[in-house]
Amino acid sequence: MSYQTILFDQEAGVATITFNRPDKLNALNHEMLSEFKEALDRVRRDPEVRVLLLTGAGRAFIAGADISEFLKFGPLEARAFAASAHEAGFVLEALEVPVIACVNGFALGGGLEMAMACDFIYAADSARMGQPEINLGLIPGFGGTQRLSRLVGKGAAKELILTGRMLGAAEAKTLGLVAQVFPADTFMADCRKVARSLAAKGRVSLRAAKQAVDRGFDLDLRNACLLEVDAFALCFASPDAHEGAKAFLEKRQPNFL
Ligand code: COA
Repeated sequence: MSYQTILFDQEAGVATITFNRPDKLNALNHEMLSEFKEALDRVRRDPEVRVLLLTGAGRAFIAGADISEFLKFGPLEARAFAASAHEAGFVLEALEVPVIACVNGFALGGGLEMAMACDFIYAADSARMGQPEINLGLIPGFGGTQRLSRLVGKGAAKELILTGRMLGAAEAKTLGLVAQVFPADTFMADCRKVARSLAAKGRVSLRAAKQAVDRGFDLDLRNACLLEVDAFALCFASPDAHEGAKAFLEKRQPNFL
C-alpha cells in the first residue's frame, strides 16, 4: 500500500511509521491522520509485527496539528478532528505490541500527544517538545491535558500547558516524559537496536506487561495487583515462561516464540 503523507517500513518484526511532510514539519492534517490510522490497522492485523516505531522525516516528529486547517473549523469540525485523533491514540495504547515514539525533532501539540499515547518516548538530544496550543488561543485537544498530567504530574503539566513553552530532551527526561535520550547522530540506529531486542522477547510476556501497567494504572492498588497476578499467571500459558527459565539454568539465550 502506498501513502502520500507517511512512510511504512517493516523489517525483522520491527515496523516503522514515519510521518512524512517534512516541508511542513510533519504537521498533522486530515490526510496524514487518516493514513496513520490505516497504517495502525495494518500493524494491528499483522502477526509478523513485534514492535512498532513512530518517527518523523526531517526536523520534526510532528510539529502539531496542521494550523492551516483551523481556519475552516467551527466547533463541530474541531470536535470531529480531535475525536478522530483520540481514536488513533487509543489504538496505539490498545496495540498488543510495544510502541516506541522516536522523537527525532519537534514534537509539539498533537505531535507530543501522539508520542505520549505510545508506550514510551525516546528523544534525540536535539528534540524540542511542548504543548504550545495556548499561544494559538487553544488548549491541547488530542489528549495532552490528560496524558501529560498522568506522565509528569499535575503541577508540571499545567506549567507546560499554560505557558506553552518548549522543553528540550534533557528536561523532558528529568520530568519523566522521555525514557531515554540518544545522540541525534545515531538516534534511529539506537532506537532500532532497542526495538530489535524487544522483538526477540516473548510476545505473551510483552503484551502482559504492557496491559498490566495500562489496565492497572487507574485502579486502586489492591485490584491493580490482583490484575497483575492474573497477567503473571497467564504468562505460563505460553511455552516462553518455561523456555526463559530453562535458558537461564542452561546458561544460554532464550528462544522465545
Ligand atoms: N501547522 C501548519 N504548518 C506548520 C506547523 C503546523 N503546526 N508547524 C510548522 N509548519 C510549517 C510552517 O508554516 C512552515 O511552512 P512554510 O515553509 O510553507 O511557511 C514550515 O512548516 C516550516 O516551519 P517554520 O515555522 O518556518 O520553521 P521554524 O524552524 O522557523 O520554526 C517551529 C519551527 C516548530 C517553532 C514553528 O514551525 C512552530 O511554532 N510551529 C507551530 C507549532 C504549534 O503551535 N503546534 C501546535 C499546533 S495546535
